[in-house]
Amino acid sequence: MKAFVSRAIPPAGLKVLEESTDLDITYNTLDEGFSKSELIARTRDADGLLCLLTDTIDAEVLDQCPNLKVISNMAVGYNNIDVVEATKRGIVVTNTPGVLTEATADFTWALLLAAARRVGEGERLVRSHNWHGWGPLQLLGGAVNGKTLGLIGMGRIGQAVARRAAGFNMDIIYYNRSALEPALENELKLRRVELDELLVTSDYVSLHAPYTNQTHHIINAESLGRMKPTAYLINTSRGPLVDEAALVAALQAGQIAGAGLDVFEKEPELYPGLTELDNVVLAPHLGSATHETRGEMSRLAATNLVAVLRGQRPANPVNPEVLS
Ligand code: DGY
Repeated sequence: MKAFVSRAIPPAGLKVLEESTDLDITYNTLDEGFSKSELIARTRDADGLLCLLTDTIDAEVLDQCPNLKVISNMAVGYNNIDVVEATKRGIVVTNTPGVLTEATADFTWALLLAAARRVGEGERLVRSHNWHGWGPLQLLGGAVNGKTLGLIGMGRIGQAVARRAAGFNMDIIYYNRSALEPALENELKLRRVELDELLVTSDYVSLHAPYTNQTHHIINAESLGRMKPTAYLINTSRGPLVDEAALVAALQAGQIAGAGLDVFEKEPELYPGLTELDNVVLAPHLGSATHETRGEMSRLAATNLVAVLRGQRPANPVNPEVLS
């Protein structure tokens, strides 16, 4: 069985692969993905592919890699893979859920606090050597303690963000396709509401839903128009949940107070005007970027890949129907 690893991954995953001496594995050892044609050329004869969210695995790729039996994505999100097409071809797709929940929730809070308390602007001021000392009117931001947090999406990461919000004495509301178990809602002190109520009442709106046809541009001109002018939008999920053109217009007009973005519609491209805005904190998709978490993601992705190639059931199939 042959496999290809599309980009340099942390050592924990490499160890699993290197110990799998029954498999013939080739690697892109660079910390940079290949072009689509290069990826196809490297994967053409492979039975397995370990890829990253920066690789687009669509029907064109699948058509030219006819031996593929497994695509192991080193990410919890898998919108970079056409799972419907993979399933049609009997290819197992796996992801890495669970291991990045806490790191992503931590980073959501880093962005929320940085946006509310204007950390980026403050840092730029200090570095510019134009700071002349403390001022009573200087860089005033939004309070967090006691405010209302609206979470769109209530999976593992949404719940972990909610747990942290308890420490800030926040009212927490959420919008999700399905309701949590009442016991969990009580434990986390959450209330499920309709999207409109969430937008209208939240001081902080944070996105934790996967990217699907249903969540495409869930934040658009209309939804931004429903938010309070003092509210902040935080996105650590996937860029295309937000209509970036509408967000930039809203931030320019002061229609909302600010935003914290870790993900973008067309990464790594940035929508024109975004970087000129002071009321947005921008991060380069760092949600899961801790040594520990990336190590675990890498180990899990490698383990999923190896399992399928050995005819075993992987721990994290996203299309389990292929296995039955
Ligand atoms: C994921 O795993 O989907 C994250 O976006 C990576 O940080």
